[in-house]
Amino acid sequence: MSGSIFGKNFTITTWGESHGKGLGVVIDGCPSGISLTEEDIQKDMDRRKPGSNAYGTKRSEGDKIHIMSGVFEGKTTGTPISLMVFNEDQRSRDYSQIAECYRPGHADYTFDKKYGFRDYRGGGRSSGRETLSRVAAGAVAKKILEELGIKVVSYTVSIGNISIDREKFDFDEISKNPLFMPDKDAAEKASIFLNKCMSEENSAGGIIETVVYGMPEGIGEPVFDKLDANLGKAMFSIGAVKGVEIGSGFNASKSTGFENNDFFEYNNGKVSKLSNNAGGILGGMSDGSEIIIRTAFKPTPSIHKTQKTINKNNENIDINIKGRHDPVIVPRAVVVTEAMASITIVDLLFANMFSKIENIKYLYKR
Ligand SMILES: Cc1cc2nc3c(=O)[nH]c(=O)nc-3n(C[C@H](O)[C@H](O)[C@H](O)COP(=O)(O)O)c2cc1C
Repeated sequence: MSGSIFGKNFTITTWGESHGKGLGVVIDGCPSGISLTEEDIQKDMDRRKPGSNAYGTKRSEGDKIHIMSGVFEGKTTGTPISLMVFNEDQRSRDYSQIAECYRPGHADYTFDKKYGFRDYRGGGRSSGRETLSRVAAGAVAKKILEELGIKVVSYTVSIGNISIDREKFDFDEISKNPLFMPDKDAAEKASIFLNKCMSEENSAGGIIETVVYGMPEGIGEPVFDKLDANLGKAMFSIGAVKGVEIGSGFNASKSTGFENNDFFEYNNGKVSKLSNNAGGILGGMSDGSEIIIRTAFKPTPSIHKTQKTINKNNENIDINIKGRHDPVIVPRAVVVTEAMASITIVDLLFANMFSKIENIKYLYKR
């Protein structure tokens, strides 16, 4: 299958299916000398893994990460880093009913049209489980960013129609509620809404915000590899993502130039902006302020409620999807968006190393 590689300088190749033997990622382009242990990666794996929260699938997976290569005596060696997880709690029989028909909102129909053959057990490559490989690679990217003082943080800003109140924004609250919302009241309201969805055998969507702190200026290329273009691709490549905004995003189209422009100011030897509607990116390059990305997820397609669909013989049928599914994808995808943003930024940080002759001379001139 093509299209399983992301990045140019720091590349990740993900592999595996949700009901195969396991899943993993090969990272190429990671510099040597970074301290890296399985525990460093496991922390993020545990934030994504199924069964870790009331609003995730009840599939119970240890998702224990194994470092297969590229690390020696606790440090990266500069060679490809291969990371993998063995699948444990597979119940392939739960999926036998969908072998012959197409789940509305899932990738079954398009997979069959493209390949003529599919691993129907849990969605194969189109399963949310594929994202564990991204989270593993993201944990390595975060180690690189940590060395540079760059931090990537994601949290939930809305579930269905319930949005956080920016006046009540509380960073400490993010890790305290199962929805990762920085507003306790909104999280409580969203929980009530989700419980109602679940009792009605339905699902919900939501929006995740990702903020990058400590970003240096000039990262991203001016044309095809714009920072916003690459972040867009990174987020849109996650299953169930239907929209990505940078900064004021779609609202920019409703404001005037005077309202939308971020005015520059020079004070005490430092350039700053008086607002951040640009979301930290101008002309595809970081402007030194925080990068702000919002990613919209659709409701989980697999719901237990009876739906209309067709089978392989083009017969109209009713479908009652069995198996275990996330009633909302957002909480489990919070760490996935952090991972994809981190991988993208590392990739473009590395590309930027060649942008000035001084940088090359600094490295090579004797
Ligand atoms: C972390 C994560 C978990 C997911 N869990 C489920 C799930 O339990 N059931 C389901 O039907 N889809 C789930 N999905 C979404 C499907 O993978 C996705 O909707 C499907 O592949 C169709 O792709 P599209 O929505 O991008 O068009 C999940 C996605 C992510 C990122």
